[in-house]
Amino acid sequence: MNRSSNVTDPSSAVLDAEPAPLLRVEHLSIDLPGPAGQVRVVDDVSFTVAEGRTTGLIGESGSGKTMTATAIIGLLPAGAAVSGRMAWHGEDLVTMAEQDRRRLRGRGIAMIFQDPQAALDPTQTIGRQVGEILRRGGMPAKEVRRTVIDLLDRVGIPNPETRHAQYPHQYSGGLRQRAMVATALAGSPQLILADEPTTALDVTVQARILALLRRVRDEEGMAMLLVSHDLRVMAHVADEVVVMYAGRICEVGSGREVLNSPAHPYTRALVVSVPAVRSKTAIAEPLPGNPVSPAERPSGCPFHPRCAKAQDRCRSEVPQMRQVAAGRQVACHFPEEA
Ligand SMILES: Nc1ncnc2c1ncn2[C@@H]1O[C@H](COP(=O)(O)OP(=O)(O)OP(=O)(O)O)[C@@H](O)[C@H]1O
Ligand SMILES: [Mg+2]
Repeated sequence: MNRSSNVTDPSSAVLDAEPAPLLRVEHLSIDLPGPAGQVRVVDDVSFTVAEGRTTGLIGESGSGKTMTATAIIGLLPAGAAVSGRMAWHGEDLVTMAEQDRRRLRGRGIAMIFQDPQAALDPTQTIGRQVGEILRRGGMPAKEVRRTVIDLLDRVGIPNPETRHAQYPHQYSGGLRQRAMVATALAGSPQLILADEPTTALDVTVQARILALLRRVRDEEGMAMLLVSHDLRVMAHVADEVVVMYAGRICEVGSGREVLNSPAHPYTRALVVSVPAVRSKTAIAEPLPGNPVSPAERPSGCPFHPRCAKAQDRCRSEVPQMRQVAAGRQVACHFPEEA
């Protein structure tokens, strides 16, 4: 990508200081067929993932995180209707032909799923699955074997010569997730989508997988979109954070700033529900109320029924995203001082 080609844009001098956007999601909306008709599960979502950086996607269950990631990798469920743009190297993933999407999958953009058990084929050896993309790319069998063993070694799977010939059931949960990371790395993608890559694992294994993802990002310079509702994870890994609520974005900014001084009442509620994010001694305050499903999105600001600061305007008028500080956007009529 040529960063200096944008000479007509007066802001390019400023933007050049930042890593160039690799993926630019613009006004992405996703409608899925539900029992009572189409439901807008992702509504007008815009954010970027910069080259070599990690963007974190947070929000409660049902907020649309997985659907957003699934749209990027191009594996939405049948019947999904997508609008908006996803700019990738001058192309739009939304309108890209399926054949080109397939070519991109694994090579340009790879995804690590929450449940490696479900994502791995129980009838195929780990080595075969990790090496599939290499084989499909025409690499000779011997070289595939060597590359796979090297990949397994790189993601910290011990005895890779033995392990590559084993099946998923012979792997522990943590090793399976490492194998998924190896599978994602096999295609040398520029962007890895990691959807709750650690929630199925116990805490110590979680920490190791996260350290692995961080190392991968730093060593290989890959960008990452990390989906998690674990703010402790985000505080460690995300350069940029995107907060979603009921299918919409309510706050975007640098990970440190958003988590240290949340501007949206929802982000604030999330942050104070996890004491370790802010201070080791603070008492966690549980989030008030329940998450709303996009099928029953309230009028105005979707968070208003749970918001202590809500006023009449919040019930009637949808707050638009607006800049409250450099690189910081919030969709709230009455944001906290950022
Ligand atoms: N295949 C599907 N068909 C119809 N609706 C779906 C489908 N998958 C998910 N949804 C709905 O889309 C909305 C967004 O779901 P999504 O899986 O993106 O949430 P999420 O933020 O990833 O939640 P979680 O933290 O639980 O993983 C939810 O309301 C969900 O019920
Ligand atoms: Mg999800």
